[in-house]
Amino acid sequence: MKAVILAGGTGTRLKPLTYWTNKHLLPVGSYPMICYGVTKLRDSGIRDIVIVTSRAALGNFADVLGSGRDWGVSIVYRVQEEAGGIAQALELARPLMLPGDKFIVLLGDNLFEESLQPYCDLFAKQPASGAMVLLKKVKDPRRYGVPKLDEANGRILHIEEKPDLPPSDFCVTGLYFYDTEVFQMIDGVKPSRRGELEITDVNNAYAQTGRLSYQEMRGWWTDAGTFESLEEAGRRLKGAIS
Ligand code: DAU
Repeated sequence: MKAVILAGGTGTRLKPLTYWTNKHLLPVGSYPMICYGVTKLRDSGIRDIVIVTSRAALGNFADVLGSGRDWGVSIVYRVQEEAGGIAQALELARPLMLPGDKFIVLLGDNLFEESLQPYCDLFAKQPASGAMVLLKKVKDPRRYGVPKLDEANGRILHIEEKPDLPPSDFCVTGLYFYDTEVFQMIDGVKPSRRGELEITDVNNAYAQTGRLSYQEMRGWWTDAGTFESLEEAGRRLKGAIS
């Protein structure tokens, strides 16, 4: 299985730190944030990684990770010229995927404990086409995409992005599993009110046809997109890479 790490965006909630660097290069424990995603993927058996980032940050990513050789993976970079949304960033990986490829998409600011291997194996074996997302119970679902579940069938009925009245206590984490059909799904999505191609709209297109399955993550999970969550990630990941 291949992987795509999305590491563009503007990091607005972490200003002024993100005035001088990309969010995913900020220190978490002893390493730049991006290193955790790369090593988690490697330790889950993934060798081919596409990293999407901004033009301004590209050189710094190459300074840290290079070709991936020293990290035990092979990395290809794609440039997102403007932060046009998570789905727009994902679309940039299209030319690097072959028909029939299945891949995991990781939002670069998502940090977590568990190995991804069991989820990769599960998705690789899934016979029908469709997508899968990983969920986590959170204290304040209003900060995230929140699913309405059909628990009997292990399916998501609908996802609301940052709802005032969350339909469940779960958040849709930034860990998504797709095959190349996702690029057609992205073609069908229109820019949202904030002018971005939203990953939640892509996932809802799958949900509408009953083809969005989910698994609940067991270990700890956090995004690191706010000062509070960045601090939490640092505490949890101190000395975590070997
Ligand atoms: O962390 C999980 C949440 O991530 C989900 O629950 C939400 O459904 C999903 O929309 C997303 O919400 P955020 O508000 O946290 O998204 P954010 O704009 O912070 O972007 C998340 C990651 O995606 C970040 O690591 C950078 C990358 N990104 C984002 C944008 C907008 C890009 O690579 N390019 C972009 O244009």
